[in-house]
Amino acid sequence: MSATISLQQLTEQLDQLEAEAAKAIATAASAAALEELRVGLLGKKGKLSAVLGAMGKLPGDERPVVGQRANVLKEQVQGLLSERLTAVKAAAMAERIAGETLDVTMPASFIPAGHRHPLISTIEEIVDIFSGLGYRVEEGPEIETDHYNFTALNIPPHHPARDMQDTFYLSEHELLRTHTSPVQIRHLETNPPPVRIVAPGRVYRRDAVDATHSPVFHQVEVLAIDEGLDFSHLRGTVTTFLQRFFGDLPVRFRASYFPFTEPSAEVDVQWRGRWLEVMGCGMVDPAVLEGLGIDPERYSGFAAGLGVERFCMVRHGIDDIRRLFTSDLRFLEQF
Ligand code: DAH
Repeated sequence: MSATISLQQLTEQLDQLEAEAAKAIATAASAAALEELRVGLLGKKGKLSAVLGAMGKLPGDERPVVGQRANVLKEQVQGLLSERLTAVKAAAMAERIAGETLDVTMPASFIPAGHRHPLISTIEEIVDIFSGLGYRVEEGPEIETDHYNFTALNIPPHHPARDMQDTFYLSEHELLRTHTSPVQIRHLETNPPPVRIVAPGRVYRRDAVDATHSPVFHQVEVLAIDEGLDFSHLRGTVTTFLQRFFGDLPVRFRASYFPFTEPSAEVDVQWRGRWLEVMGCGMVDPAVLEGLGIDPERYSGFAAGLGVERFCMVRHGIDDIRRLFTSDLRFLEQF
């Protein structure tokens, strides 16, 4: 570009640029298109720069004329660009608002929230009461050995008490535990007295199903071993617990027999107009303590096993244990 250029030519170019820019900006439809125009018009390699580059070829006294004109044009174009940008953005927003209608009468999306099964909340409540009395929570396996489930609890092979607690045998010595009492043995093996524990869990029995029996159910075991514990401690603890759980429900202690306690008792509460057995208890038999190497002359204690389903049924007025296992939401949602 060594050819000379006149002031008039340059001025015409600027006029042309002005008209061209105004038209392009007025029809640009997006922020991106406007940015592209800005670069093309005002950028370093843009059209205005090209005109200004040619300005150097004018005689010195004519240059300021073109320079001033170019500056005015630049400001003009910047003004048009920003005006148009505002308009384009407003139009985009208006379009979005028009497209996104909000129907406030539409039903909210329903996220069903679950809650605890009544058996679980019953266990939690029982455990809570005993925690308040200073008991710790322990757990044991559901697959037990013959030793922990029976023999160590003073139920040797062929003892008739085994008949009442028939269960599923996985091998000659492994079975599904019939009660939570084996946790007593497991705990005492590694924890010397004084001991105060509760052990909640699931147990299994070959029982015919009826309104109050299920082959799978839950128990909470209670065990306290210390110096000087006697039957009054057992009775006081059980009574306090029942009072806290049931309030003023009629309760009776009935003499009974368990191989691992002596003396033994069963506790009944009123349910649907009759007595319902809800727990067994007794003073831990000295033979059980001796088997664990604990001196029964020094230590004594009491134990109890509660049937969780029955506590739950009495508490909530449930008429049939099977309702607790059939997962019918119409039933479960009431708790
Ligand atoms: N394990 C007994 C059962 O399932 C209940 C029981 C009775 C537990 C007396 C005890 C107890 O700890 O002392 O029938």
